Amino acid sequence: MKDTILISPSLLAADFSRLAEEIAGIESAADYLHLDVMDGHFVPNMSIGPAVISSLRSVSDLIFDVHLMISDPGKYADAFIDAGADIITFHIEACPDPRPVIEKIRGRGRHAGLAISPDTPAEAVFPYLGEVGMILVMTVYPGFGGQKLIKDTIPKITQIRREAEARGLDTDIEVDGGIGDGNVALLSAAGANVIVAGSSVFRSHDPEDAVGRLREAAESAPYVHY
Ligand code: DX5
Ligand code: ZN
Repeated sequence: MKDTILISPSLLAADFSRLAEEIAGIESAADYLHLDVMDGHFVPNMSIGPAVISSLRSVSDLIFDVHLMISDPGKYADAFIDAGADIITFHIEACPDPRPVIEKIRGRGRHAGLAISPDTPAEAVFPYLGEVGMILVMTVYPGFGGQKLIKDTIPKITQIRREAEARGLDTDIEVDGGIGDGNVALLSAAGANVIVAGSSVFRSHDPEDAVGRLREAAESAPYVHY
């Protein structure tokens, strides 16, 4: 697996009246910028779309890690790529046949990721492990920031990590929802290496320091290879 821990602060918890400044505050500490897209249909909330992402592209050199919580992701993939997304992750629950969407994203030279909500079993992504660079295991129900991590989701991380390793794949496993420096070690020890954090970064008095603390805590508990 990729032993490197990558931190992806979620802008959903930032002050939306000053997004550029909020990004500048974590730019040098973070690896990715996590951008949550919600359509009010796949999830019961709405957030940002391609226009905002495109505006932010000019103020940040971070890798844009776009998390689509939308129905029919294939219809909008091009718009998010045009806006500057580097990684596009979409939900398997929104897409009975993810292959054409994966191919569309990869065909345009971007990284594709596949997400699973808490009620979806790990096995649902196994058929696609060879085709996507990243699996996102949601540790809360998608739609809102500031929720509590659901611990029952943690074994799925290890199931996916073991399956990937058994096939010799260098898959990134991202986790998202309710994560802070007090619980991130449980997730890295389980096999996750890309850590999303909204509230624990942007609602902290020192977001840059919060990113460093997350990284330190995650690195303190590495996954043990079998
Ligand atoms: C939730 C989003 C998350 C959210 C995480 O649906 O996918 O990325 O911003 O926020 P926290 O870290 O506050 O749980
Ligand atoms: Zn997210």
